[in-house]
Amino acid sequence: MKTSDTSAIFVIFGGTGDLSHRKLMPALYNLVNDGLLPERFAVVAVGRKEKSREVYQQEVYASLQKYSRNKITKTHWARLRDAIYYFSFDFNDSAGYQRLHTYLEELDSTRHTGGNRIFYLAVAPDYFPQIVAELQRHRFVPAEHGWQRLVIEKPFGKDLSTARSLNSQLTRVFSEDSIYRIDHYLGKEMIQNILVLRFCNSVFTSLWNNQYIDHIQISLSEQDGVGTRGGYYESAGAIRDMVQNHIIQILTLVAMEPPVDLSTDAIRNEKLKVIQAIADFTPEQFRSDVVFGQYGPGMINGQPVPGYRSEPQVSPTSLTETFVAFKLQINNFRWAGTPFYIRTGKRLSSRSAEIAIQFKTLPPILYFKDRMVQEPNLLVIKIQPETGVYFQFNTKDFMSHHDIVATKMDTSCVLPTQGNTPEAYERLIYDILRGDTTLFPRWDEIEAAWKFADQLIAFRDQQRFRFPNYDAGSWGPAKSFELLARDGREWITV
Ligand code: BG6
Repeated sequence: MKTSDTSAIFVIFGGTGDLSHRKLMPALYNLVNDGLLPERFAVVAVGRKEKSREVYQQEVYASLQKYSRNKITKTHWARLRDAIYYFSFDFNDSAGYQRLHTYLEELDSTRHTGGNRIFYLAVAPDYFPQIVAELQRHRFVPAEHGWQRLVIEKPFGKDLSTARSLNSQLTRVFSEDSIYRIDHYLGKEMIQNILVLRFCNSVFTSLWNNQYIDHIQISLSEQDGVGTRGGYYESAGAIRDMVQNHIIQILTLVAMEPPVDLSTDAIRNEKLKVIQAIADFTPEQFRSDVVFGQYGPGMINGQPVPGYRSEPQVSPTSLTETFVAFKLQINNFRWAGTPFYIRTGKRLSSRSAEIAIQFKTLPPILYFKDRMVQEPNLLVIKIQPETGVYFQFNTKDFMSHHDIVATKMDTSCVLPTQGNTPEAYERLIYDILRGDTTLFPRWDEIEAAWKFADQLIAFRDQQRFRFPNYDAGSWGPAKSFELLARDGREWITV
């Protein structure tokens, strides 16, 4: 449901945290910069620490200097600053919610925000149920006026059963269409471009199936280690951190059928079917088609870096995977027989996120009669650090009579900022204001993704890993290369 009334109070629980400073505030600033924030708008940062509004505004200003993609101008900063408020209380203090309620109502009358609220939970997920229950107890929801939306960050549960329980607690208070589950990958430019590429180009639309596509790779590699997030990552690992959410979401967009129209539910319905059609792994496939890894010490950009087990808050005998690669099949008429290879890991040789679509080769006749090797047509959707599309096709070499060479067309370029970018958050926050949930996974997608991820987690938990099994700065465990080599394929890097 899209709303025309975008005026709102944006309440951030965890307003002093990293996410607010690095992503949310820069995103809000850039929305001001682009003229996309409504006139009637206020941000209320909620945090435990006592501090004045002015001090908080100054802290935000310092963060904007570091993290905003646009330079901070006086006019735009003045606009955002005037909309920023700070409210201090402890989430465990039930009485504090009543004070907050009164505070927001007073703000409504000065900022003319009509009771519209966005509750952004930028706090540890353990707090979600409690905060939401308090919002109901103190009648923030349902409210007499305006709309109320809930925004949560991942992880959405630790497995299917915890996710179900969390979801039932949230949906007791907020309806499904007012819950925005952030997957910041869906805010990235090239992820949004997947459907445009597929459904606005007859050449791709007509070839996008198992008749013409040999296989597809989705590869999200990071150079960074876990940094200061060891505590969280120890119980997450790559499957929960990247596969259950970002990878599955990308897979749905690459593999879905054309929706009947561009409405939110039409798109989400098709995405869901993809997850439901992922074939279960047999015990043999688990053993042969899934590779886990954990980084040991190594070199990144010429500098020595520690292994995962020496990172802060990580057990020296940890068996958490920082890398996973696997092959999956989608059991439907479009994809049966065309494998998808997935790879994601930390402390790899370089940072990149790419989707590679390799088309089938031609029969070895005519030009390819005497050739051992035929370069396949290749479409690579580059998500980051370069953003754009690469396409490879065969032509005659200009200088020779017969030589066939692979011609490479590359539209990609490096955007000024990268990564878990404010841009992704800008787009997502803008959509939350408009009430557009298309770029947010629906509960049944999350549920189906957990069913899939739980299989991998259960298999992982039965293993006796000999970790670490790859050096920081490499491309991961040797077995991940064998996974493709066995099928006569290799990981594509362009
Ligand atoms: C987050 C994960 O969701 O995505 C992090 O929790 C990961 O571990 C990050 O580093 C990657 O995002 P991006 O946008 O930098 O590729």
